[in-house]
Amino acid sequence: MSETKNLIYAGKAKDVYETEKDDEVIVAFRDDITAGDGEKKDNLKGKGHCNSLISSKLFEVLESNNIKTQYIKLIENGSMLSKKLDMIPLEVIARNIATGSLLKRFPFEENQKLDPPIIQMDFKNDEYHDPMLNDEITISLGIATQEELDEIKNITLKINKILSEFLKEKGILLVDFKLEFGKDEKGNIVLGDEISPDTCRYWDIDTLETLDKDSFRKGQDNVMDIYEQVCNMIVNKEDLAKWGVSF
Ligand SMILES: Nc1ncnc2c1ncn2[C@@H]1O[C@H](COP(=O)(O)OP(=O)(O)O)[C@@H](O)[C@H]1O
Ligand SMILES: [Mg+2]
Repeated sequence: MSETKNLIYAGKAKDVYETEKDDEVIVAFRDDITAGDGEKKDNLKGKGHCNSLISSKLFEVLESNNIKTQYIKLIENGSMLSKKLDMIPLEVIARNIATGSLLKRFPFEENQKLDPPIIQMDFKNDEYHDPMLNDEITISLGIATQEELDEIKNITLKINKILSEFLKEKGILLVDFKLEFGKDEKGNIVLGDEISPDTCRYWDIDTLETLDKDSFRKGQDNVMDIYEQVCNMIVNKEDLAKWGVSF
């Protein structure tokens, strides 16, 4: 960071800093990577920068399709100026193909197409290990109202369509992804956090090869190569050059 700012929150992969403006924060993407409820950890040089570029591009795509997001602009390597949100403690997951934890919990066939997509909400809470919710539990816990849940599901389905189409053109199959929403000062529900290979499953559309954090979960030694490859596939050359990226 060029100036010293107060750290509001340090998460597992990002830091959130305050700015001179009450309603803006800097979301700073670190190189840390974790998996398995935080049990598997590493630090991959350049990962934060990659994820900030990928997230920024995808937030821009969503904004141009009238989805409200936190995104203001990238201000320096890995640092995204964002609207400050009062985060809703939900991990909103959309799934187009059955894989990962879904197969451990339910008798889906591996790689079964999910059409319509499945929207799953988990309670974002480390102490309780992010358990799956239903609407009634979410409402009883005071996390969101039924109207808010309906809106969140609607927005997530729209985002799924927009991103699936955009990524398909880039040669990527959007298998599933996790979103976090928050409220702005007017109470609008706004997309926050990140959309990156840390939070999505991306498969190569032809080979179905993993292009995301599953490579780290599986212990592959080419995780950073994969993140750089995805960055090259999603972010246009001018933006990569502007941010001094050459991989
Ligand atoms: N626009 C925003 N305003 C305020 N907080 C945010 C915003 N976007 C994301 N956050 C929060 O900042 C944290 C990001 O850091 P991360 O490393 O992902 O944390 P965690 O370990 O909690 O997932 C998350 O807790 C997320 O909910
Ligand atoms: Mg997170």
